[in-house]
Amino acid sequence: MEFLEDIAELERFRPDAGEIVLIPTMGALHAGHESLVRHGAEMAKGRGACVVWIFVNPTQFNDPADYARYPKTLHADLALCRRAGAQAVFAPQASEIYPKDSAVRVPSLPAVATAPQLEDRHRPGHFAGVCQVVLRFFELVRPRAAVFGEKDWQQLQVVRAMTEREMPETRIEPMPTVRDPDGLAMSSRNRFLDEAERTRALAISRALRAAADVPGVQAAEETMRRVLVESGIEPEYAVVRDGRTLLAPGAGPKRALIAARVGSVRLIDNAAWPAGG
Ligand code: PAF
Repeated sequence: MEFLEDIAELERFRPDAGEIVLIPTMGALHAGHESLVRHGAEMAKGRGACVVWIFVNPTQFNDPADYARYPKTLHADLALCRRAGAQAVFAPQASEIYPKDSAVRVPSLPAVATAPQLEDRHRPGHFAGVCQVVLRFFELVRPRAAVFGEKDWQQLQVVRAMTEREMPETRIEPMPTVRDPDGLAMSSRNRFLDEAERTRALAISRALRAAADVPGVQAAEETMRRVLVESGIEPEYAVVRDGRTLLAPGAGPKRALIAARVGSVRLIDNAAWPAGG
């Protein structure tokens, strides 16, 4: 596996690499990321290379404290990527991604990044930063496909819509959320939960499961809120929406989505609603 520390090294690697399957990450990798890398390595087999990008993107953090404490575990990340079958890790410095002397374009945001009033409302500026960095890396790497986890469901829809418009030759490949055995969705931020908070956080996946068989959107939303509040969690949102637009649900596939703070940690999770829908 190659470690590409800057754009010049990426450019040296690129010509012989064949079709690239890109795994975008901010590092602090866990088993959820590992499933993305394994899937990417499988997709790239015989035709190209699976490349993991590791870059803690400053422009998508609306909370400076969250950026400052974002975990950095490069040594362990590289071991995970190697074990999962990646051909290369690309981990450039922020000064190269955002050079002082030239502005890096923020693509115009798709409606799903501004209209739902979910992550867009609670993390202003976040999707502008995500779209900016994703497009920057896509332009540098020119991947055939990029693999994104379903845990950040709104991000997945935003990136898909942005990519269809800006770089239609790149396919966005979604992968299911990986959970701990007790149901907690894996996240790099879970390490900041103490034991009591972690137990409380289990109410989030429990709320999604409890709502999954409740008929009717309103009743499902009430069920999620009740399960959360009973565990001492006041959600930022606990809603059922159209799975693509994240607006009020219609006839198409729907998604239940929750965001909540547990202690100092903001957690998000989602599931198909109704179950198997
Ligand atoms: O999901 C993430 O880890 C980040 O938002 C991403 C897509 C790597 C962009 O920085």
